[in-house]
Order: sequence, then structure tokens, then C-alpha cells
Amino acid sequence: MNKSASKSETSSSAPAADAPAVIRVFDTTLRDGEQSPGASLNSYEKMDIARALEQLGVDIIEAGFPIASPDDFEAVKAIAGEIKSSAVCGLARCLARDIERAGTAVKDAASPRVHVFCATSEIHRKYKLQRAENEIVKMSVEGVQQALQYVKDVEFSPEDASRTEPEFLAQVVHETIKAGARTINIPDTVGYAAPGQFGALIRYLFAHVPNIGDAVISVHCHNDLGLAVANSLAAIEAGARQVECTINGLGERAGNAALEEVVMALRTRRDAFNATTRIRTERLFPISRLVSTLTGIHVQRNKAIVGQNAFAHESGIHQDGMLKHKGTYEIMSPADVGISKSELVLGKHSGRHALRDRLVELGFVLEEAQLVKAFDEFKKLADKKKQVYDEDLEAIAESVLKESPDVWELVALQTTGGTGVMPTATVRIRDAAGNVSQDAATGDGPIDAAYTAIQKLTGLESIRLSEYEIRAITGGRDAQGEVTVQIEESGQKMRGRAFSTDIIEASARAYINAINRLLARREAQKSQASLFAQP
Ligand code: KIV
Ligand code: ZN
Repeated sequence: MNKSASKSETSSSAPAADAPAVIRVFDTTLRDGEQSPGASLNSYEKMDIARALEQLGVDIIEAGFPIASPDDFEAVKAIAGEIKSSAVCGLARCLARDIERAGTAVKDAASPRVHVFCATSEIHRKYKLQRAENEIVKMSVEGVQQALQYVKDVEFSPEDASRTEPEFLAQVVHETIKAGARTINIPDTVGYAAPGQFGALIRYLFAHVPNIGDAVISVHCHNDLGLAVANSLAAIEAGARQVECTINGLGERAGNAALEEVVMALRTRRDAFNATTRIRTERLFPISRLVSTLTGIHVQRNKAIVGQNAFAHESGIHQDGMLKHKGTYEIMSPADVGISKSELVLGKHSGRHALRDRLVELGFVLEEAQLVKAFDEFKKLADKKKQVYDEDLEAIAESVLKESPDVWELVALQTTGGTGVMPTATVRIRDAAGNVSQDAATGDGPIDAAYTAIQKLTGLESIRLSEYEIRAITGGRDAQGEVTVQIEESGQKMRGRAFSTDIIEASARAYINAINRLLARREAQKSQASLFAQP
């Protein structure tokens, strides 16, 4: 067992030897994430994100770089003043003025932290800072000591650690822990590390820094080679107990390790990492949406965990597997990350099973022969369109169902209306067996009266008219009127449509059309249910 693991075990009520390590999640969306080219947030937006991060359960929120601008200072201060259950951290270089700003900005937080950093790699020492090794050690130690004048909780980062000579890195880490830093963060600043090598660097530090047990070892990986998450996980396997990351993987250049990916990797592969976090994973998708909306940086469709395609399946083979057992093609439940359900995207690779399932969801239960026909139509359409939407499927199902005979037919309609007259309608209709019946009703107007009479005649008195639309489809005084209605009954919705030069007649016909289609759907559902019920 490495030293960091033994430290965390002695600091609480000794868990069992194989208990998972609890990894601290340090979110830097508001600092490194905000440094993403194209992302800049105002102080209200930062506060919204900070609240969402607190709700998400992150342990530490790096709220900004207070020396960067007065706005940054104010935003960090405001966040520190409000957030209670996450520590709030401000970043500073190892410069007195930076540290004073960061310390002052976070001082009112329930758990304030100052994060100081100083570059340690040869290339940064030589070209950026123009300082010798001993000067870098001195600056780092003094930076930690100055930060301790403001807060007890100080984190130190040797910037570009992964390209720093390991012996020198170990020396800096040793000295800064001695100076009082309680978290040492090892950044892969330029995303240069490879997982095996980065894990080995963390192990090297555990083996060569005598006081390493006095600090939590953290990692901060950039994604220039697409390895940020892999490197973070390798470091956790090697004993790191804090991971720095951002929502949606935002951050300088190609970004930082994506919080949602690290967290879900630890959760889904507990067997591999034996580590856990305090993140409420069902909030991952909502916060991803919030951050993408506020920063204006879209999440790529195929992004792991929170991308639009992360739980979408298009291939017929996959959809068939999913419908039989979700575990065939999903290693996580979408609900675990806050996505309501997996999506079977209907396109040209989809199979009959998926089509039938989606049609049932839309309220259409087709008989086998109807389904064959609908599938045929669907394939033709899918060849033309990349994605077939629910509205397309409804149209296909309706055209297939339309072949079933209408239950009711309008035979005659007579209405009276006008100023000072009670609107009435007399309706005569015929059923499928040829029986004709007639009834009359009054209403708010002739159409309302006709609808009430139709309901009485069909026995569907609890129908509710939820939409009514009329439009002229030809010009002139003899224009055809098109009426579209939507009715609702017992939770089912159905549309109906009809044309006539007489808009009252078109209205009655549209209503009867919707009723016929509703009844046809119910019939189909009944016969499908009995098909399913057969042994
Ligand atoms: O990438 C980096 O090295 C940083 C440090 C400030 C931690 O962002
Ligand atoms: Zn960084």
C-alpha cells in the first residue's frame, strides 16, 4: 500500500483493508476552464456554475485567479461568501501581490484554500522565469509560507511537473510540504505525459519524498494528446487522492481532464480502480448542459458520458440487443448521469424490433402485416433521410392504419346560428355496419354544438378538444377550408383532418376523422395485445 493510502486510512475511523479510496474532486471549470479560448463568463454566470458544482458534490471549487482582473477577484469573493459545502480556492503565482489577492478573495469561505504554483521544468526555468533551481525552490517555499498567512489550507503546484527532472521535482515537493502545503498537485501542464509514465512519476514521488504522507497528492492533466483522463486514472492507481478536472473537459488549449469521465470511470470500474468520489453523478448531465450554455462551447455529439450520442444506438443489431437486455451495449445506466433514458435512433441501420418498439411508445400497435408494410416505408424514408423522427413514424403508421375501415361516417349535418339565436346542430352518422343514427345538441357556436352531438352519437362523451386549427387552402370565395383538430381521451391524443368549402362541415368531418383514427388505434392495440398474449 502506498503512503497516501495509509495516511487517509489513519485520518478517519479505519476502514477495511479493501475499502475504496475516496478521491477528492477539485473542479477548476471556473479557472482553467474559463481560460478556454472562447469561454468567458460574467460573475452571475460563475455564481450559477459554482452553485451547481456545490450541488454536484465537488470537494473543492477553484473559483478563479483573483490577480487576473478586478472582476475575477469579485467573482471569487462572491463565490467564497456563498458556497458552504465545497471548499473555495483562489489561484496565485508565488508572488506576494498574487497571494494577497487570492487570500483576501477566499477569506470568507467556509473552507478557504489558496493554490500557489511555480514552474519547475528546465524549459520554464530557463526561458520563462530565468531562475536557477535553488531560486525556484526558494520562491515556492516562500509562496506557500505567504499563503499560510491567509489560510490554513494551502495547495502547491510545481507547474510542468511531468517535464521536470524527477529528482528536482521530489526536492520541490519535499520542501513545499515542509513549508506547510497540505496538498501537492502534480500538473501535466502541456498534456505531454503518457499514462504508464505518469503513474510511474507519482510512484517515484511516493518512494522518494520522505514527508509525502503529510500531504494529499493531486494531479492536474491537460488533454493535448487526448490522454488527460487516462493520465489522471493512472495517477489515482499510483496513489493520487485528489483529481483536478473540469466540466466537459474545458480548459487551456485542448482542455483538462473531464470531470464526468473521471468520475464515471471510477464508478463504473470500481473493480479496476477501487476508488470512489462524493459526486452525485445524476447531476452530471444537467451541469454539463449548464456549462455549455453559459460558455457557448458545445459538447461534441460523441463525447463520453454527456454527449448527445453517449446513450444513443442506431445499428439494428445494437438496438435489438438493447431491447433484449440493456447490458448488451450499455455499461452505465443513462439515469446514473442524469439522462432520462437511452435513445434508439431510428435510421437506415435500425431493425424491425426497434421500429415496433418506438411505434408502441408513440401509441401505434400494428399487426404483423401492417408492421411489415410500415417497415418497408420506413426503410425507404431512412435511405433518403439520415434520421427518421417521431413525426415521420406517426405519418407512416397512420398511413398503414388508414387502410382499416372507418367506424363512423358523416351522413348529414344541419346547423343554425346567428345573433340572438341559440346555436344548434343536428348530426346524422352511419356506423361500419350501415346503421344510421341522428342526434341534436346546442353549444357555444355551431361547431361546438356539432361536436357535442357527435360525442353523444359515438358514445365518446369524455373526449376533449385540445387543438383546433383552420386555414384556407385555396383562394377566393369558394376557398376550401382545411380543419385540423387534436382530441384527447383517456390519456391518448389523436389528430384528425378534413377539407370542405363549408368550414362547419370540414370541422365536423375532422372531428369524426380523429375519432375514427383513435378507435382504429385502440383496435390495433387490442389485437396486438392478444397477439403478444399467445403462448
Ligand atoms: O496546467 C497547469 O499547470 C495549471 C497550474 C496552474 C496548476 O493550470
Ligand atoms: Zn492547467
